[in-house]
Amino acid sequence: MTDLSEIVADIAAEMAEAPDRGVVADYIAPLGAVDPRRFGIAVIAADGTCHLAGDAEQPFSVQSVAKVFGLTLALGAAGDAVWNRVGREPSGTAFNSIVQLEAELGIPRNPFINAGAIVVSDILLGRREPAEAIAEILRFVRALAGEDDIFIDATVAEAEAATGYRNKALANYMRAFGNLHHDVDRVLGVYFHQCALAMSCRQLALAGRYLMNAGRNPSTGHSVVSPRRALRINALMLTCGHYDGSGEFAFRVGLPAKSGVGGGILAVAPGKASIAVWSPGLNARGNSQLGTLALERLVQRTGWSVFEAD
Ligand code: DON
Repeated sequence: MTDLSEIVADIAAEMAEAPDRGVVADYIAPLGAVDPRRFGIAVIAADGTCHLAGDAEQPFSVQSVAKVFGLTLALGAAGDAVWNRVGREPSGTAFNSIVQLEAELGIPRNPFINAGAIVVSDILLGRREPAEAIAEILRFVRALAGEDDIFIDATVAEAEAATGYRNKALANYMRAFGNLHHDVDRVLGVYFHQCALAMSCRQLALAGRYLMNAGRNPSTGHSVVSPRRALRINALMLTCGHYDGSGEFAFRVGLPAKSGVGGGILAVAPGKASIAVWSPGLNARGNSQLGTLALERLVQRTGWSVFEAD
C-alpha cells in the first residue's frame, strides 16, 4: 500500500478541487456561517502514526458524531438496560423524524437518531444536575483524545436550544410514553451541549481510537469498553450512523461511521485506523458530501472496507 500520508494528501488535494460540495446546514447561525470550502482529514493508524491533511486542526461542531461518546458513557452507566429504552435497528427515516415513535410506543429505533440520543441523555442525566452530566461528557472526550484543549461551544448550544422545536417535540412525546424520566428541558440541556462539542479532525480521530482497538485506549492501555461492547458500537455505527443514508454509506464506504450536521464523520477501520473527516457541505440526507467521498477514496486505496477480504 502507498504511504498513508501520501494517500491522505492526495485525497485532500482532490477534495480541494471538488465542484459539488453540498449545502452547509443553516438551521442555526453558527453552523450557517462556516466556509463550505473547508476540508480536513485525520487518519490515526493502529501503529500510532497520525496522518493529517487540509483543515485537520480546525475545530468544528461535531454535532451528532458526539452521540457515539454519549452512548458509550450511557452503556457504562446503565449497561445493557439501555436497550430496554432504545432499539438497535436502522430507522430508514431522517435523523429528526418523529413518525415511528407513535407506533413504537416512544422507543426510538436506535441511539443515533435524535430521539435515541435524547433518551441516552436522559440516562446520562441520572440523578445529577445537567451541568454535571455535561462536564462528564467533556471530561470523557478529553480523556479519550488525551487532550484538554476540547470545548463545548456555548453559542451553538444556545442556538440549538432556541430553535430546537423538533427535539422538544420528540422529548415531550417520549416523556408522554414514560420513556423519558427527567424534566424535558434538563434532558435537552444535556443533549444540546453534547451536540455543541467542538473538535478538530485530529482530536476526533484520537477520541475514536478505542473503537478500532477492541475497546482499549492505545495511549493509556486502559479499557474504555469491553471488546464485545466496542464491536457492538461499531455495528450500530455501520447500520445506523448515517440515518436514512446508512445503506448507501455502507455500499460506498463500508466502515462503521457516525456523521454530524456540522459536516464531520468519525469512521473506524477495526484493527487498522481511526479516521475523522470534515467538510461542512451536506448531501440530501444531511451527511457530509465530501467527507463521504473522501472516505470512499480512502477505502479504495487502503482496502479497509470491513467487507473486503484481507
Ligand atoms: O439535534 C439536532 O438536530 C442537531 N443538533 C444535531 C443533528 C445532527 O448532527 C444530525 N446529523 N446529521
